Amino acid sequence: MLGKTLQNFLTGKGIPFVSSSKTQADVTNFTELDALCKEIQPTHIFNCAAFTAVDAAETELDLAMKINGEAPGLLGRLAKKYGVRLIHISTDYVFSSTQHTPFKEEDETNPINAYGRSKLEGERSLIRELPTACIVRTSWVYGAGGKNFISSIVGLLQTKETLQVAKDQVGRPTYVNDLAEALWELKDSSGIYHFASSGEASRFEIARQVLSYMKDNGMAVLCKEIVPVSASLFTTPAPRPLYSVLDTSKYEKEYKTPRHWNETLKELF
Ligand SMILES: NC(=O)c1ccc[n+]([C@@H]2O[C@H](COP(=O)([O-])OP(=O)(O)OC[C@H]3O[C@@H](n4cnc5c(N)ncnc54)[C@H](OP(=O)(O)O)[C@@H]3O)[C@@H](O)[C@H]2O)c1
Repeated sequence: MLGKTLQNFLTGKGIPFVSSSKTQADVTNFTELDALCKEIQPTHIFNCAAFTAVDAAETELDLAMKINGEAPGLLGRLAKKYGVRLIHISTDYVFSSTQHTPFKEEDETNPINAYGRSKLEGERSLIRELPTACIVRTSWVYGAGGKNFISSIVGLLQTKETLQVAKDQVGRPTYVNDLAEALWELKDSSGIYHFASSGEASRFEIARQVLSYMKDNGMAVLCKEIVPVSASLFTTPAPRPLYSVLDTSKYEKEYKTPRHWNETLKELF
């Protein structure tokens, strides 16, 4: 989702780039990455690749660790070798609900699932290899194309008469188009930055807003009622933090206030 959006963003700006898929350059394979770098001589690398199946990471931990944990270190080594800026994407899931105020970049991490642990290991392996790298943590990313929680909600609202959604799981949805723009802004920065769309919301509030926009746009809807429930009602292989709101004031001070998730959700519909 992010990789394709970044490609569209760069194309729109007329910025030349090369994008590579797993078959062209597997991020766990240094030789392939090295050959690609030698050929294209980039100035910046944006690592949008990841093992993103949060539940599957519980059972496929070795693969998740290789892609999310070790590969950022390989990319760091590569960027050092070629003198290239590296921008890597991480997640709010490096935090757990240890606090109920937005998480700042320097707050203590404490992942509660395998995906979060693998992403945190990726941050560490990258910083070890390339302390000047830029790591952008983001959360609840949605946009056109690709499977994400908004597209899942749309599907459920079209197929279920009653939908139960967690009212006590709170985060900051992030519009992928705005994330792509922020990554471009941050391309020459170093250290950790948090980026998310403005405004925090529960999964229930988001589902209610999605329903409203679907109706406004004449989309087919089967759902008659969205019921706010406790997240404890759902059992998933990977636990999710109840509160993982990112504090984006560091980004805001240097750049701008991100657009509100509700404004960008409307734009999406
Ligand atoms: N989506 C969210 O809500 C969210 C939230 C916080 C942070 N993030 C982070 O944001 C970044 C982008 O996420 P996204 O939502 O765009 O994920 P995505 O749609 O799942 O895309 C991940 C991409 O990585 C590729 N990939 C997997 N293994 C690879 C490998 N070994 N070598 C090269 N490419 C590989 C996948 O290819 P295949 O499909 O062919 O496997 C896929 O195209 C990730 O770092 C993710 O952790 C996402």
